[in-house]
Amino acid sequence: MNILYQGILERYFGKETTLVYGDGNIDTGIVLVGEAPGRTEVEQGKPFVGQAGKNLEEFINILDISREDLYITNVVKFRPVKYNPDTGRESNRTPNREEIRISIDYIEQELSIIKPELAISLGNIALKCILKDDKATIGIMHGSPISVKFAGTEFALFPLYHPASIIYNRALKDVYLQDLHKLRNYIKREKLI
Ligand code: URA
Repeated sequence: MNILYQGILERYFGKETTLVYGDGNIDTGIVLVGEAPGRTEVEQGKPFVGQAGKNLEEFINILDISREDLYITNVVKFRPVKYNPDTGRESNRTPNREEIRISIDYIEQELSIIKPELAISLGNIALKCILKDDKATIGIMHGSPISVKFAGTEFALFPLYHPASIIYNRALKDVYLQDLHKLRNYIKREKLI
């Protein structure tokens, strides 16, 4: 699967692309699905490190679980970048439709192997990918579990705002924290840990 994905990306981008694979406990009932790795993730070869890792620590503390209780992955396994010709710098951007399309097989394989009881999606990209619904929006669906069937596996999906999207928005941060407390109660009630 890794070789196939790497091959598709090489054809797509015309060069070898550094991938950041899923990481964590493959025997867990809980999977966390982000959007795509950033620069630090590519440097360290692991999802949700650097600033995103700090956000994840807060997330894990509120849920009263540990990183080892989770399998952590992203919809897209490479870093989508935009280039600023004025500064000569690359920065992160949201993956586009085509980049998501060529990445879907991979995450389907992952979830069909792990067979989680619960997937927590962070942000719109992960939500739309797992629901296979381009019209789904986090603003409406955040904070409540939904039953889904993805890659032949049935599980509960709990959509959350992406932690990166709430940094500069106090009101949204409050909603995100409320959602995390709902998720914590859900995990305890369903005895997932
Ligand atoms: N880092 C990741 O690995 N995924 C995200 O969605 C954001 C930061």
